[in-house]
Amino acid sequence: MPRLPVTASSPTTITVNAKELLAFGGCNYLGLAHHPDVLAAMREGLARFGISTTASRETTGNTTIHDDLERDLATFCRQESAILSAEGYTANIAAAQALTRDHGVALIDAKAHRSLRSAAAAAGMQIFDYEHLNPDSAAWLARQYADAGVAIFTDGVFAADGALAPLPGLLAALPKHRATLLVDDCHGFCVLGSRGSGTVEHFNLDDPRICITTTLAKGLGVYGGSVIGRRAFVNSVRDHADVYRRSTPPPTPIAMAARAAIATVSRDPALLASLRRNTDQLRQGLKDLGLSPHNAPIPIFTFALPEADAMQRVHQALLDEGVYAPFIEYPGGPTPRFFRLTVCASHTPAQVSTLVAALKRHLA
Ligand SMILES: Cc1ncc(COP(=O)(O)O)c(C=O)c1O
Repeated sequence: MPRLPVTASSPTTITVNAKELLAFGGCNYLGLAHHPDVLAAMREGLARFGISTTASRETTGNTTIHDDLERDLATFCRQESAILSAEGYTANIAAAQALTRDHGVALIDAKAHRSLRSAAAAAGMQIFDYEHLNPDSAAWLARQYADAGVAIFTDGVFAADGALAPLPGLLAALPKHRATLLVDDCHGFCVLGSRGSGTVEHFNLDDPRICITTTLAKGLGVYGGSVIGRRAFVNSVRDHADVYRRSTPPPTPIAMAARAAIATVSRDPALLASLRRNTDQLRQGLKDLGLSPHNAPIPIFTFALPEADAMQRVHQALLDEGVYAPFIEYPGGPTPRFFRLTVCASHTPAQVSTLVAALKRHLA
C-alpha cells in the first residue's frame, strides 16, 4: 500500500495533497503530540541542550532530564523504577536481553506485536506461541517449560484488534519463581486505568513478576521507550542489556517534552475523560451501524467488510468527503487489510458524529 503523503497535522486533522482531512488514525490518544505545554518544553530543551546527547548514557550521554524522566515514569506507573530506551521496539529488546539471563523460554501471544517476537529471538530465548488472549493455552505451555524459566510476552492492548490482554489470567498461568509477565503497553499507556498509566493499573495488579514496556511515541505523544517495573529487574536491564548500554538515549528536548506530557496527563483528568467520551460515542455509532465493537475503554476500533474492493471504495468515498478513516495492511487484524479507526481526546462529539454519519452513508 502506498505511504500517506502527510504535509501537516493537528490532533484531529491531517493535510494530504493540499486538502485538510478530519482524521481518525494514529495513536496520539490524548492529543499530546500537539499540546502547547509539551511543545514549549521541547523548545526549551532545544535551547538548553541542542538535539542529541551524542553518546550512550553510561559513557558521556546522560543528563539529569533523563534521570528525572525515569523517575516520573516509575511514579506515574506506581512501579519502583524505569529505564529509557531509544524506542518502544528497543524497550522490548532491552527487557528480553535482561530476562534471558534466567528465563530460557518466551511464551508469546500468537498476535503479539512483532517487536516482542524479535526481542525474544534476538535475546536467544526459546519461543512458543500460545493462543491469542488464552491464559489456559499459556498455562499449559508454562507447565511444560517451568524448569527453564518462563516469561509470558503479551501486548496490554492489541493495536490491530483493540483487544485487552487477560493479564490476571496470564499471571495465574505463570510459575511462582523464575517467571515474568512482560506487558508491552504501547497502546494501554496513557489510555487505560483511572490515572491513565495503563493496562496493569486497569486490572489493579501489583505483582513482582510484572514488567511493563512502552513507547513514549503514542499516548504520550513524544518519542522513545521505557522498561518499567521492579528495581532489581530495571537494574539488570541497565547492567546487562546491550541495546541500552551501547546506544544513544532519546534526545534531551524529547525527554523534556515527555516530562511535560506526563505532568499534563497527571494534572488534567479532563483529557482521559474526553478520550473515554469519544470512545463511547464511536462504539455506540459502530453498534448502530450493525458492527460488533469491543466493550473495553479502548479507542481503537477495527473492522473489515467481506470484500477488499468494497473497503477500498468506502475508504475513498470518505476521503472524498474530507474524512480519513484508515484502511491499513497490518499483521494481527481481522483480515490482512482492514479499517482501523481511533478517536483521541481532542476530537469533538460533532467530529465523531461526522465520521459515523459518513460511514452510515457509505457502508449501507
Ligand atoms: C505494541 C507495540 N509495541 C512496540 C511498538 C514499537 O514502538 P516504537 O514505535 O516506539 O518503536 C509499537 C508501535 O510502534 C507497538 O504498537
